[in-house]
Amino acid sequence: MRVPVRRCAARVVIPCIWRGKHFSSGNEPAENNRVTPMLRHLMYKIKSTGPITVAEYMKEVLTNPAKGYYVHHDMLGEKGDFITSPEISQIFGELIGIWFISEWIAAGKSAAFQLVELGPGRGTLTGDILRVFSQLGSVLKNCDISIHLVEVSQKLSEIQALTLTEQKIPLERNAESLVYMKGVSKSGIPISWYRNLQDVPKGYSFYLAHEFFDVLPVHKFQKTPQGWREVFIDIDPQVSDKLRFVLAPCATPAEAFIQHDETRDHVEVCPDAGVIIQELSQRIALTGGAALIADYGHDGTKTDTFRGFCGHRLHDVLTAPGTADLTADVDFHYLRRMAEEKVASLGPIEQQTFLKNMGIDVRLKVLLDKSDDPSMRLQLLQGYDMLMNPKKMGERFNFFALLPHQRLHGGSHQMNAQQSRPSASPVAGFDELTWR
Ligand SMILES: C[S@@+](CC[C@H](N)C(=O)[O-])C[C@H]1O[C@@H](n2cnc3c(N)ncnc32)[C@H](O)[C@@H]1O
Repeated sequence: MRVPVRRCAARVVIPCIWRGKHFSSGNEPAENNRVTPMLRHLMYKIKSTGPITVAEYMKEVLTNPAKGYYVHHDMLGEKGDFITSPEISQIFGELIGIWFISEWIAAGKSAAFQLVELGPGRGTLTGDILRVFSQLGSVLKNCDISIHLVEVSQKLSEIQALTLTEQKIPLERNAESLVYMKGVSKSGIPISWYRNLQDVPKGYSFYLAHEFFDVLPVHKFQKTPQGWREVFIDIDPQVSDKLRFVLAPCATPAEAFIQHDETRDHVEVCPDAGVIIQELSQRIALTGGAALIADYGHDGTKTDTFRGFCGHRLHDVLTAPGTADLTADVDFHYLRRMAEEKVASLGPIEQQTFLKNMGIDVRLKVLLDKSDDPSMRLQLLQGYDMLMNPKKMGERFNFFALLPHQRLHGGSHQMNAQQSRPSASPVAGFDELTWR
C-alpha cells in the first residue's frame, strides 16, 4: 500500500510539550494567579455548598458548558498548550487505520461498521484513518462505514468538521438533539457528532480513544492514620482569591472505589473511566468490534499524577482555572478490572512496541523515499523520533485493546481444511502485523 505524502506543514510542532512525561512537583510557579471567570464560579460554588472533590473540580474546569477549558479553546499544537501524537506525524493515524482494517478482516469482514472516536481533538487522527480507508478502498469496497465522534467541545467540533467534512455539503446542526451535528466526509462517509457515548447507535463498531481517558475527572485519596481520606478543594483562608487542597475530616462515599488490598498511600480513581469501559465492553460483547485506547498511564502503581499544562509548560492545577489543561495518568489496571469478564483485554503495551509491530519503520521508509523536500524529510524523522524514542513518547504512552473473547480464542473465523477448531489470528500491534 502506498499512501501519498501529503503536506505536513501543520505538523511542524517540535519542540512542544507532550503531557505524558511531565509530573507536577506541586511547586509550579503561580505567577498567573488571576481571577478567571472559572475561579469566580468555583469560589461561589464552594462558599454556597462547601469544598468540592478533585473530580468535581476537574469536571467543572474542563467541561463546564459555559466556561470549561475544552469547550471554547483550541489547545492543541504549537500555539496551544500541548501536542499529541496524531498532530506530530501522519504515520501515527495511518497505522491506527491499518489496525482497524486488520481487525475488521480478522473478525470476518462484516458488511458494515461504525468508527467511533472519543475526544477527537482537531479530527486529525480520524482524518488520517479515513485517508487509509480511501487508499484501501478495494479492500473495504463493499463495507458500509460511518463515523461517530463523541465530543463535548463546541470549538473543537467545529474544527473537526473543517478537517473532516466536504465543505460543499452543508452541515446539519441541531443543538437540542443527541446528534448535534451531521456532515459527510470528503470521501462520502457520513459523520455524526454526539456529547455522550451512550447516544451513539449500538451496532458493530470500532472504538478509538487517544488521550481521552486522561482528561476524565479523578477522585484523589490520601492514606492517614485514621484511614483513607478524600482530597477536596477549598478556598484558602489566608490568601484572597486562592484555592487550596484539604483532606475530608471523615470517610466519603467515593472511598468505595479503593481496593481493599491497596498498598499505596495515595491513589487516584476515575469512576467515569470505569463507566465508559463498561459501556464499551457491553457493546463489544453484544455486537462485536473492538476498542483501541492509547494514553499515558500505569498499571495501578502510581500515586499523585494530577497536573496542569498551559502554553507548553507545567501549570499549578489550582491557579487560574479554566486557562490550563488538567490531566491525570490513566490507571490501566482499573480499566482492565472494569472490562470484567465481558470482553478480553490486551495490553497495556508501550507505544514504541505497538507502532513497531504495526510497521512504522516500513511506512517511514516509504514516505522518505517518496519525498525530496528536505524539510519534510526532517519533519518525518523528527516525528518518528518523538513517537518512538523511549525518552520521549515511546515508553510513557501505552496501547490497550478490548476485543470479543472469540476474537482471541477462535470462533468467528473460517476453518481451514486441517483444523477442527477455528484459529484466531494474532492481534496486530500487540503482535507483528501480518496480512492474511
Ligand atoms: C487531550 S484532548 C485529545 C485530542 C485528540 N484525541 C488527540 O489525541 O489529539 C481531549 C479531547 O477529549 C475531549 N473531551 C474532554 N472531555 C470529554 C468528555 N467528557 N466527553 C467527550 N469528549 C471530551 C476534548 O474536547 C478533546 O477533544
